[in-house]
Amino acid sequence: MAVEMMSEMLENVDFQEFGISSQRYLESGTVMKEEEVEEIRKKDAVLFGAIGDPRVRPGIMERGVILNLRATLDLFANVRPVRSFVTGRELVVFRENTQEFYVGIGGDRSGIERPLGLYGCEGTIGVRLSVRGNMAFDIGIMSEAHLRRFFSRLSIYRGRKITVTDKANAVPNMYSLWRSVAAEVLQRDGFEFTFQYADSVAYDMARNPEKYEVIVAPNLYGDILSDLAAGLFHGLGFAPSANIGDRRPGLFEPVHGSAPDIAGKDIANPFATILAASMLLEYNGHPGLSKAINDCVAECYRSRILTPDAGGKMRSSEVFREFMKKLRGAV
Ligand code: IPM
Ligand code: MN
Repeated sequence: MAVEMMSEMLENVDFQEFGISSQRYLESGTVMKEEEVEEIRKKDAVLFGAIGDPRVRPGIMERGVILNLRATLDLFANVRPVRSFVTGRELVVFRENTQEFYVGIGGDRSGIERPLGLYGCEGTIGVRLSVRGNMAFDIGIMSEAHLRRFFSRLSIYRGRKITVTDKANAVPNMYSLWRSVAAEVLQRDGFEFTFQYADSVAYDMARNPEKYEVIVAPNLYGDILSDLAAGLFHGLGFAPSANIGDRRPGLFEPVHGSAPDIAGKDIANPFATILAASMLLEYNGHPGLSKAINDCVAECYRSRILTPDAGGKMRSSEVFREFMKKLRGAV
């Protein structure tokens, strides 16, 4: 639907669809081909649906496709805004997107492995452990140069209230580096900001979400806090995200997963993907169209043109039809 919308609204744009899916993996054993990654790399922008299927062991598609794309396309920041259609208020989770516990380095008693090879790993980390019974580990890594460019991307939020979160009290090495780079870059760029531990942010968000405007979070907490943020507003059905780096293509996707339980029933909420397409347009030279889409989504919300998850009674296809009528009228 989001592609249909963009093809109708834009001239001279070519779309290429990639058949990357759990179904294909189940049939052929292929998660994502090297050539596919190379083709994707040449595009101006990528719209990503969602991945995950209960018939496939957790992690295979997620790590093999979306985490792999984030890392290989070097999309080091993930912008996850949620907006109230009632008050217009926006809360953004600005998530570090490729490092920390997502580097894909870990193992068990039999040794260390880098199944994805997302990061080059030179040298060895030598620790002799004495653990009874089974054990397993995943290593969290953050690098200074990476954090410096990540925090530098916050410059788009000048004037907003910034909260930088972590668990520097429990995991001090990584998050001390995180804090020192945050302080250096944000002070340089003239920001006012505060640090707050992630557990405490979760508590305050649940009780008093107005306290926050931009929450800057490491990868894993950013994942969790962005779902929480969506839940505090209109739900995951309205939560888009932009995976961005210093180069094209950026990758735009809904925050939600593939919802396999409702696949094919024509009741999935189309708005998170439509809003992700809107972010794609905003980041790729079509701010006017992007704003028109956001406004029409808000209008659909207010006129209850909604699927059941959002309290409506309409099917996805009907919602989309009504939405497109509004959008055609608006541009
Ligand atoms: C997200 C998802 C992914 C993540 C999963 C599918 C690996 O939850 O984009 O929020 O953890 O980043
Ligand atoms: Mn998530």
